[in-house]
Amino acid sequence: MKLIFLGPPGAGKGTQAEKICKDYDIVQLSTGDILRTNRKHGTELGKKAQSYMDAGELVPDQIIIDMIKEELKKPELNKGYILDGFPRTVPQAEELDKLMKEMGQNLDAVLILEVQNEELVRRLTSRRICRTCGKSYHLIYNPPKVEGVCNVDGGELYQRDDDKEEPIRNRLQVYENQTMPLIEYYISKNMAHKIDGIGKIKEIYSKIQEVLEKI
Ligand code: AP5
Repeated sequence: MKLIFLGPPGAGKGTQAEKICKDYDIVQLSTGDILRTNRKHGTELGKKAQSYMDAGELVPDQIIIDMIKEELKKPELNKGYILDGFPRTVPQAEELDKLMKEMGQNLDAVLILEVQNEELVRRLTSRRICRTCGKSYHLIYNPPKVEGVCNVDGGELYQRDDDKEEPIRNRLQVYENQTMPLIEYYISKNMAHKIDGIGKIKEIYSKIQEVLEKI
């Protein structure tokens, strides 16, 4: 199964992708996570991406496309994957189409999580991430068992620099201007499945499962 996960920042893509990957035995490919890992290790890619990410802007298309080309070659992706955070612009989607064709692969579906802006701001300002494994929590909706500590590996929880009010507002604007046109792009290809992203994490996952059972 090969999927794309679309949705605004904070819609729950990472949260739901984790469940999908576990149950359907596929791999999550999150461009945001890959960029953050590169920043942590101080790579050239990480340094190039840093200022864009902190301001809530998109990293330039060519950087992302070169990165994803390398990622898609990895053998562990043979069992299937979910692209979380890619594509995010029409040029990225067109490049992905080209890549898929070259590799003789097809995408099965595009899942689109829909959540209103006020709720997104609430989710992002109280999100905390594990420094070691990247698992995400919410201080109120999805708290860790022990404050400040990851349930999975005991790692320290931190707040992302772009999860502050100003970059959040910018990310929402960027999503509207640059990523929302992709919804039409995939509707026209008959691949889009819209899912209401408001409600309990489990309820939303059930709706996703209903979609996945039909594809
Ligand atoms: P990225 O890391 O992809 O961030 P994002 O798209 O902004 O998405 P998030 O990770 O913030 O949100 P999410 O939907 O995964 O939500 P989550 O599940 O954590 O990108 C970061 C940056 O990298 C970009 O701004 C850009 O600079 C760069 N970048 C990445 N890809 C790029 C690309 N392709 N091109 C160019 N630049 C790129 O949930 C959010 C919170 O809500 C959590 O606290 C969670 O616990 C909680 N929550 C989840 N579900 C629910 C629910 N149902 N009810 C209540 N709370 C919930």
